[in-house]
Formats: sequence, C-alpha cells, structure tokens
Amino acid sequence: MSAKSIAFRLFILLGVLALILAACKPVPAPTPTTPPPPPAPKKLEIFSWWTTGGEAAGLLKMFDIYNAKFPDVEIINATVAGGAGFEAKVVLKTRMLGGDPPDSFQVHMGRELIDTWVVNDYMEPLDDLFKEEGWDKVFPPGVLEIVSYDGHYWSVPVNIHRANVLWYNTKVFADNGWTPPATFEEFFALAEQMKAKGITPLALGDVGIWASVHLFEVVLAGTLGPEKYNGLWTGETDWGGPEVKQALENMVKMLEYANADHSALSWDQANDLVIQGKAGMTIMGDWVDADNLAKKFADSGWAPPPGTQGVFIALSDTFGLPKGAPHPEQVKEWLRVAGSKEGQEAFNPVKGSICARNDCDAALFGPYLQSAMQDWAKDAIVPSLAHGAAASESWVTYINDVMTVFVTDLDVAKAQAGLLQACKDAEVCK
Ligand code: GAL
Repeated sequence: MSAKSIAFRLFILLGVLALILAACKPVPAPTPTTPPPPPAPKKLEIFSWWTTGGEAAGLLKMFDIYNAKFPDVEIINATVAGGAGFEAKVVLKTRMLGGDPPDSFQVHMGRELIDTWVVNDYMEPLDDLFKEEGWDKVFPPGVLEIVSYDGHYWSVPVNIHRANVLWYNTKVFADNGWTPPATFEEFFALAEQMKAKGITPLALGDVGIWASVHLFEVVLAGTLGPEKYNGLWTGETDWGGPEVKQALENMVKMLEYANADHSALSWDQANDLVIQGKAGMTIMGDWVDADNLAKKFADSGWAPPPGTQGVFIALSDTFGLPKGAPHPEQVKEWLRVAGSKEGQEAFNPVKGSICARNDCDAALFGPYLQSAMQDWAKDAIVPSLAHGAAASESWVTYINDVMTVFVTDLDVAKAQAGLLQACKDAEVCK
C-alpha cells in the first residue's frame, strides 16, 4: 500500500471518527415544554334574593336541571337575603353601575325590568332565544308584552306570583268557628274576636318596609277595585281623591291589629306567627305557600283579602342577560332552562308560584297553586306595586318612604299628600 493511499485511508478514518464523535456529543436537554393549562372552569353566576326555604329549594331545582345538562359548569349561587330583594337590589345596582354584572339576575317583570335596566341600555335583547325556543307560543300574550320593549324581548319569565292572598291557620279558624273575611267590615269584626282570644289578628313582618307597601297595594285594590287601581299607575285615578283616602283609613285600622314588633320581622317570621297559632292571618304573596311547604305546615288556609275576590295582583320573576355578563354562552343555556317546561314544572311547585308558560301540568302542583292557576285564567289581572310591575323603582322608593313614616304616625292626610307628590315626581300625575 502506497504511503499516499495510507494517508488517504487515515484521512477517511479520521473523518468518520470526527463524525462519530460529533454524533456522540451530549445532546442538550430538551427545554421542558409546559403543558397547556387546563381549560378555565366554566362558571355561571346567578344573582337572586331567594334564601328562604321554599325560595332556595325552587332555585336549586333549576340548578339541578342545568347541571344535569352541563356538569362542567360551576354555578355560583349569588344570593343576598331580604324579602322582595330590598337588600339585593342595592347590591345589584352597585355591581351593574360599577361594570361588574352577574351573569344573570332576578328581576321583576314590568317597570322594574324595563325602566331600570332596559331603557338605560344595560340588557341584551333575547329575540333569538325566544324564537329558537318558540316562547312566543307558550307565554300568554300579556306576559310577552310586559317583557318587551321597543320591539324586542328582554327577559325570560320563570313564574307568576299572586300578591293578594290572605293566609290563615285552618285549625285555629275551625277551633273558633271562624271563616275568612270577605269585606273590610268582616275583617275588622273578626280581628276583634281574635284580639279577645289573645291572638294577634294580623301578622306583619315589614323589615325593609316593602311588606307594608305590599299590604297597602292589596288594600288599595280591595278598596278601589281593579279598574281604579289600574288608573293609579296611569294617572287616571286621583291619588288625592276619596278612594285613596279610604284605602289609607282601612290600612290604619289594619295596622292597629298587627303585631307591635312588625318592623323587626321578615315576611316568613310573620308567617311563623300564623303557623304557631299566635296570629290569626297574614296578607302576603303566594311564596307563603312555599314557606309552608318547606316548614311542613299542613293546616294552611287561603282566601282573597277583603274586597279582592276576582282580582289577581300579579308579579313575575324573570332572568335576563346583562350587557358585559362574563359568561354569556352559559347564560343563554340558563335562560333556556328557566323558560322551559321542564324548568318551570320543577321550580314552581316548590316556589309557590305558577308557571309563566301556559302548558305546565297542573297535577304537579299542590291545591293552593291549582286554585291560583284557575284564578289566573279568569280573574282581573292587575300589576303589583311592591314587586316592580306597576311603577318604576324610583316611584316605588318614594312610596316606600311615605309608608315608612305612615306605619308609625298613621297620619292619613300627610301620607296621601306624599303619595300624590310621588305620582307627580314620577311624571304620571300633573
Ligand atoms: C318577591 C319575589 C318572590 C319572593 C318574594 C319574597 O319580590 O318576586 O319571588 O321571593 O319577593 O322574597
């Protein structure tokens, strides 16, 4: 082998060696790639004031239906205690005005929804949802009209509540041979008999004042009748006239038969007095039916309060989609549940309300609610003042203030002047 070829082979060998060495060079450790973060948990925050037994139980029924469909969504049950939302509405306002809306919130159908939130551009229209779900065919025309504004739908009604119910303890009534009073005269005569027996005639729990405003709307409807009552909200009935004066006088007499500690009690604590037989009657909305159910009270009786036979003072709880809601996709599914037959049939029998839909199965409801369904179909329907249907929130606030003073000083003339001024401030009266 020539020296030249040896050199050549050596050269090749060295080249191969260099290649092998290069291949054996320690490979830099792969930079650890961080695994992608798990998808953010899906959430849905539902804001309401449903904290008492029947209220909370109804809400959970709808959550159960939602979570069965969407088990990966965590529902945040944002409740603020206080009947009729007297505390919750304050919190809600702070959040909405501060740009921190909950995903969906409880809001009364009527002026509360429209004047407070829709007109001021805080809500998303729900026309597509109504169309997809065919809700224009299952909600009564009157209900569809009240959740509409400017040609669009703005919230989904989950129920219909009745404000004018006189609740009593059937056992106490039977033991004493009493029957529910149909007129104011009968009410006061019965109240005297109750007083003589050491029973508080009227249980009232008006912490937050709204329950007295609620009582007043029932007394107004019972004194004025449905047409004149309706005229109060349009300016056709004179707030300074003799009928309103009469209603205030009836209210004074009623308050004289109420428990002295009413301003310290909630509506459900007042109902406890009836359950315990310490009070004879309470005048409150039909969420009392749910309270009685939750408290397993079986001796509950009901009747229209004086003068309101054939009148149904209505209100409705609804849910919508606020602008800027953090989880709009989840909200739409929530609203589908709230408006569905399945959702309403699960919610309402335990909530003490009837369906806003007209196709629910009556057999799922207890005797009180079955009677309410019949009344809803045939009575004169008028809007509730205390629960956002009849008047704007600012008008209701003014009336709340008038009532706060009135329940203490019982000054009819002063209260009537205040009510008239409230109507003028609302620009409904001249
Ligand atoms: C009403 C509400 C009802 C019931 C009641 C007492 O305003 O519409 O659903 O909860 O308050 O809290």
